[in-house]
Amino acid sequence: MIDNHIEKKPSIGDAFPKITVETTYGKKTLPDDYRGKWLILFSHPGDFTPVCTTEFVAFEQLYPKFRERQTELLGLSIDQVQPHMKWTEWIEQHLHIPITFPIIADPLGTVANKLGMIHSAQHTKTVRGVYIIDDKGIIRAIFFYPAEVGRNLHEIYRTLYALQTADQYHVALPADWPHNSIIGNKGMIPPPSDVQEKNKRIQQAEAGEINCFDWWFCYKDIGN
Ligand code: BEZ
Repeated sequence: MIDNHIEKKPSIGDAFPKITVETTYGKKTLPDDYRGKWLILFSHPGDFTPVCTTEFVAFEQLYPKFRERQTELLGLSIDQVQPHMKWTEWIEQHLHIPITFPIIADPLGTVANKLGMIHSAQHTKTVRGVYIIDDKGIIRAIFFYPAEVGRNLHEIYRTLYALQTADQYHVALPADWPHNSIIGNKGMIPPPSDVQEKNKRIQQAEAGEINCFDWWFCYKDIGN
């Protein structure tokens, strides 16, 4: 019986808990084995299910782009290593896509439970969870999708790219970035936290260093 209600689940900004897992590519210790890289850890409801199959193909197809951003992929479900291998073999034989990232075997749901990936609608299966973990082992984003809706891989990639861009330029990224309807691909300067900062924003805008609609609504070019 999987008990889903005891530990506090990790949140954005927490250090990812240290866990050793069995995967289709051997034992791994999270987050240490991925230090220096970003990691997308994602759960799926089960092997040999159609929507999950489409997601695995989509993750694999985008894997080269994730790798360009120093990012690794790692799947997880409440299945054993052998069904994971049988299923990925099937995907390769029938859909001609070799799945080259590892998948965690979590048959007792221990890891999934720790990460809040088992929700009340489906006690014995994981929902479609996504953790984005940065190169220092900090959780930067968490998504949950229901079993009946496959994930948008481009949104997961966009979020990763936006987080890396936010870190690099000390900005926040607007709705639909990099195609925002008001400021396009520019970065937003987080609102000032005191009067001194507010006055600095006004001076920077007057000097043409940044653009502002108002002192709390400023943005700048981030060269992309
Ligand atoms: C699927 O991946 O096709 C699926 C898994 C669980 C429930 C519904 C659909």
